[in-house]
Amino acid sequence: MAAPLVLALGGSLLGSAGSERDAWLTALAELLEAVEVSIGIVVGGGVAAREAIDQAKRDGENDLAALDEIGITATRMNAAMVAQFLQNAGLDVCAEIPHDVESSARGLVEHSLVVMGGTRPGHTTDNVAICLAIEAKAARCLIATNVGHVYSSDPRVDSGALPIEYMTLSELQDIVGPPVHGQAGGSAVIDPIGVQAAIDNNLPLSVLDGREMERMANALGGKPFIGTSIEVE
Ligand code: UTP
Repeated sequence: MAAPLVLALGGSLLGSAGSERDAWLTALAELLEAVEVSIGIVVGGGVAAREAIDQAKRDGENDLAALDEIGITATRMNAAMVAQFLQNAGLDVCAEIPHDVESSARGLVEHSLVVMGGTRPGHTTDNVAICLAIEAKAARCLIATNVGHVYSSDPRVDSGALPIEYMTLSELQDIVGPPVHGQAGGSAVIDPIGVQAAIDNNLPLSVLDGREMERMANALGGKPFIGTSIEVE
């Protein structure tokens, strides 16, 4: 059987409820239907996670694990929503939302699609996706987000930041920094803990804009795509 793929969907791609989200989910379902290998999908928490974590902080919660648990709940809620949509669209989706990557990898043997959110405190869904890719022996982990590339520095604060098309995992580590979990809801382009796991397990990554379905189709189909390819060496 061909190796599965893993796709991390940044929560920001879901936006808020409405016709734009419906259109994006419909396009995603069409695209996934055309892919011939099984796919593990890991959904981020997006605005739901950020708002709930910020609210808890304002209410005085400062325990990092407790804040992380709030974020995990949001990721699982988003995962349930995506799984339900894909199921209604007629795709073969595992009925459960697994809480660990081992169960997810087992689900990928039986189903075309498994959708999950977070697992435990201390990292983000980027690392969950990378760990699932390692567990399921996926050929690659695709990280779909709301920026087109990995940049040479943070484009939100550095107008001179340059998009990168090809890089190695160790060059990515130079950008994201050491493998530590900074703060609940905080976002680097890719979770540095996941980058370390990818290095340790020789897992190539792709980063691309998940709003651009042609790019997504190319990346999932193993074709050249607009985005950043991050190779082992
Ligand atoms: P996300 O994976 O959405 O993280 O999980 P993020 O990087 O902050 O968001 P994006 O990718 O920029 O949209 C939301 C939060 O949930 C907790 C973390 O606090 C994370 O920041 N979380 C998530 C965990 O603690 N463990 C998990 O397995 C997943």
